[in-house]
Amino acid sequence: MNNAELAAVGSEYVMNTYARYPFALVKGKGSRVWDADGREYLDFIGGIAVCVLGHSDQRLNNVLREQSEKLWHCSNLFWIEPQIELARKLVQNSGLSKAFFCNSGAEANEAAIKLVRKYFYRRGEQKRRSIIAFRNSFHGRTMAALTATGQSKYQEGFAPLVEGFAYADFNDLNSVRALINDEAAAVMVEPVQGEGGVMPADTEFMKGLRQICDQEGLLLVLDEVQCGMGRSGHFFAFQKYGVIPDIVTIAKGIAGGFPMGAMLAGKLPVSGFEPGDHASTFGGNPLGTAVGNAVFDIVGQEDFLRQVRAKGNYLQNKLRELKDGRIINLRGLGLMLGLELNTNHNKLLEICRQKGLLLIGAGPKVVRWVPALNISEADINQAVEIFAEALAEWPED
Ligand SMILES: Cc1ncc(COP(=O)(O)O)c(C=O)c1O
Repeated sequence: MNNAELAAVGSEYVMNTYARYPFALVKGKGSRVWDADGREYLDFIGGIAVCVLGHSDQRLNNVLREQSEKLWHCSNLFWIEPQIELARKLVQNSGLSKAFFCNSGAEANEAAIKLVRKYFYRRGEQKRRSIIAFRNSFHGRTMAALTATGQSKYQEGFAPLVEGFAYADFNDLNSVRALINDEAAAVMVEPVQGEGGVMPADTEFMKGLRQICDQEGLLLVLDEVQCGMGRSGHFFAFQKYGVIPDIVTIAKGIAGGFPMGAMLAGKLPVSGFEPGDHASTFGGNPLGTAVGNAVFDIVGQEDFLRQVRAKGNYLQNKLRELKDGRIINLRGLGLMLGLELNTNHNKLLEICRQKGLLLIGAGPKVVRWVPALNISEADINQAVEIFAEALAEWPED
C-alpha cells in the first residue's frame, strides 16, 4: 500500500489517538527513514528520542536475531539471564541498588509511585503518601503518571485522578518548600522537562531538591524516561548534576526501539517491594533485555558519551548561526535541544517534512531536536541547512 492508502485504511481501523502525518514510515537505516511512497527523510524525531543508535543498527539486529533463536519470552517467575546482566550494568552505572523492568515510561513511573507509597507504608508511616510533582511536567498517560503530569491539557476529562499529588513550579525551590507537610513522601521531577518544552533544571535546583529531600525525609524520584540513556551527554542526566536520586525511571532509548522501561531504586526505597507487590508479564523479557545490553554496551561508553556532548555542542552552534527574528531561545543538554519560537511551529515543521527533514515540537512553540545519538556531523549539517531553507520559506503569521 502507498501512503494515501495506508492513511485511509489506518483512519478506518486505528484508534484516533494521534494527529498523524499523512504518510507511513516503512524502512529506516541509521538517521534516515523512508515512507511508503519511497521518499527519504532525515530523521530528527527518532521515534521521539527512542532510536538512540538510529534505525536498524546491525549490532542490535544481530543480538535480537540471536536471542530470538534462544528464548523469546519466559515469566519473571524464572531468572532471566540477559535481564540480570542488564540490571547489574544499570545498577553499577547509576550507583543505585536494584532494577525493576517494565515496558514503557508510564509504567516505570507507575512503579516508582507505587514503590514510594509502599516504602512509607512498610515503615509504618502510612500518612506519608503525597508526591510533589511539577507544573509543565510529563510523566505518561496511565492514571497515576497522568496525575503526576502537571499539565491540565493531558488530564482534562479523565477525572477522578489519583489522590495525593501536589504541584510546584519547576526550578523554584521555594514553591517546593511551600508544599512540604507531614503527608509529603517524595519529589518527582524530570531533570530536563521534555514534553514541557525541553527545559533543563538548574544545577542549584537539582542540588536543592536533594537537600530538601534529605532534610525532610522525602524520596527524590527522577524521571529520565526522555533525558536518560545518554541523551544528555551523560548516561543518566543526574550524573551531570552531581545529584544521586533515590529512584530513577528510564524507558525510550533503553533498548533502542524495543519497548522497554525500568525503574532503579536505591538502598532505602528498595525495601518497599516484596514478592507480589508489583509485577509485569513482559517486563525484562529476554528479547528486550538482550537488546538493552547491546545498547548499554555502546551508549554507556565514556567515549560515546563524550561524542554525544560534542555533537550536541556542534548542533547548538549551528542552530545559533540561524538568523530569524522568530527564534527566541535555544536550550537543552547533549542531543536534546529545544529551539523556542515566538509563534506556533506547525507550518514550519510541515515545510521541513516536505523538504525531507522530520522534526517534532515540544509544546506549540518549541522545535525539539532529538536525533540518534550516533548521528554524523554531515547529517547535522544537512538537517540545519534544510531547516534554514524552511525558515526562509516560512511565511510570517
Ligand atoms: C519524561 C517522560 N516520562 C514519561 C513518558 C511516558 O513514556 P511512555 O510513552 O513510554 O509511556 C514520557 C514520554 O514522552 C516522557 O517524556
